[in-house]
Amino acid sequence: MFELTVNGKRVTAERDGSLMEYLREELNLTSVKNGCAQGACGACTILVDGRASRACVLKVSGVVGKEILTCEGMSEREKAVYSYCFSRAGAVQCGFCTPGMVMAVKGLLDVQPAPSRDQIKKAIRGNLCRCTGYKKIVDAALMVSEYLRENRPIPEGEDSAVLGESLLRVDAPAKAIGIAEYVDDMRIPGMLFGSAVRSEHPRARVLSIDTSEAEKIPGVVAVLTAADIPGHQKIGHLKKDYDVMIPVGEITHFRGDAVALVAAETREALAAGCAAVRVNYEPLPAVLDLESAVRGDIVVHEELGMEDNLFNEQRLCRGDADAKLAASKYVVTRHYSTPPTEHAFLEPESAVALPDNDGILIYSGDQGIYQTRKECAEVLDLPEERVRVIAKMIGGGFGGKEDMS
Ligand code: FES
Repeated sequence: MFELTVNGKRVTAERDGSLMEYLREELNLTSVKNGCAQGACGACTILVDGRASRACVLKVSGVVGKEILTCEGMSEREKAVYSYCFSRAGAVQCGFCTPGMVMAVKGLLDVQPAPSRDQIKKAIRGNLCRCTGYKKIVDAALMVSEYLRENRPIPEGEDSAVLGESLLRVDAPAKAIGIAEYVDDMRIPGMLFGSAVRSEHPRARVLSIDTSEAEKIPGVVAVLTAADIPGHQKIGHLKKDYDVMIPVGEITHFRGDAVALVAAETREALAAGCAAVRVNYEPLPAVLDLESAVRGDIVVHEELGMEDNLFNEQRLCRGDADAKLAASKYVVTRHYSTPPTEHAFLEPESAVALPDNDGILIYSGDQGIYQTRKECAEVLDLPEERVRVIAKMIGGGFGGKEDMS
């Protein structure tokens, strides 16, 4: 048993473990966002005895006797000021990072009520934002410090909605103080947790999948493989080249392809269930760089009848380059390449699905609910009208959540 004080209340944790999980799952303090769970993003920032700290790298046993503060524990005045100033400064976009930012700023303002820009930058240096950029966040922090110091009232009826004037984003105030609901913040009685068992090899033939040990684990409710898919086994918006799960006898296309899905009553049973699925692979040579992909020594999607790895080719031509080069005084010839870009949204992909009359209702954090509806209907062999998809708050995407989660 571990005793701590959270938002001014004494609480007892039955067992040790991640402080972030305890705050989110046991106390339902969902302003503490689970971005990376590895101490890298700062979305789970809280105050521990007044110091900004990342909840995901702390253990419950490490904060016994300490005072923990999350956005939920701020005074009503503070909530009003932080949500107004962050919204007015345009410092909230997807909002997934914002409650953590607010905690980092509060940690500073509580000891330094009139900070410089540099002090604010230093205070939020452990908090990543992928949408907004940091200038507006620093502006917001300065505005908060003025409102609190000068005890300024929050303006009302400021927005006239006249063309040319900027308006407060309707969703920004709730996002700023962590009360906007993202998929992972949903709590539905009796809900199960689900996860995939993923391929350990970039390219390997799946020889067998043994789910028997996983099915015996208490709390594991179902272990599914491709054989359980009632409809389409391949999905994809532009080309159906993405396996829902790799069937026995087929070849994986990247390290991370799903091989099985596990559903369980608790996260612990889920992790144990995933670990107990035994998959036998025959590792095969993989395509590991662009050059060999272009050479086509190995065709990644041979099963689709493709003869090479070229998905699409677009030629963009504008003007007469040859004539311009011939008429140029100097000509520079070099090879230019661009790096790969990862969208790196802070909110991990997740979804919740419920039975819905004779169909299914899906709450999703993705960027394309119509595509999700269409492809889920295809996978489940249901008519589209029996699949409903509701978009929740989306913690960043930048196009990366247009694919199926
Ligand atoms: Fe900061 Fe989206 S608003 S990550």
